[in-house]
Amino acid sequence: APDGPGRPRLVVIGPPGVGKSTVAREVARRLDLALHDSDTIVEERAGRSIGDIFLEDGEAAFRELEQDAVRAALTTTGSVVALGGGAPMTAAVAEALQGHDVLFLDVGIADAAKRIGLNRSRPLLAVNPRATWVATMEERRPTYERLARWQVDTAGRGVDEVVAEVLAVLG
Ligand code: S3P
Repeated sequence: APDGPGRPRLVVIGPPGVGKSTVAREVARRLDLALHDSDTIVEERAGRSIGDIFLEDGEAAFRELEQDAVRAALTTTGSVVALGGGAPMTAAVAEALQGHDVLFLDVGIADAAKRIGLNRSRPLLAVNPRATWVATMEERRPTYERLARWQVDTAGRGVDEVVAEVLAVLG
């Protein structure tokens, strides 16, 4: 286990639209654990939406805030942590994730396409969401796989089924 003040029970990574937030929330509820979400921490600390941060300060500034948010979330003992899709691509974040119980929620474009763009703004997917999602996932997949202790495929499955498998792998 990494040194430091705390250790989450589970850290969920994966691309936008895979249902990280939904699955993390449900796993936390079922296990009666606290839930932390790097996107929410960034927005609360900045007092602005992620869309506004990207627009006003740019992606690099967002990644700095995100890195701090992830570090804070990783100090919470026994929690479930959901990370923004791009967080593991920051080298310092990938390093901070070493030794944690990381779950990669995997999905294909067909399922992701049903979810992306539906709920909240995703500045990186504002233009050509489908093609951008595919290219981004291709670039990120090796990192997701390298960092993950477990990988759960969500393709064609509902939240309950995915959550059941996550609870099973957690043991
Ligand atoms: C991002 C994903 C978003 C959010 C930001 C950047 C990304 O989180 O952190 O818009 O780089 O893939 P979700 O994965 O929860 O959509």
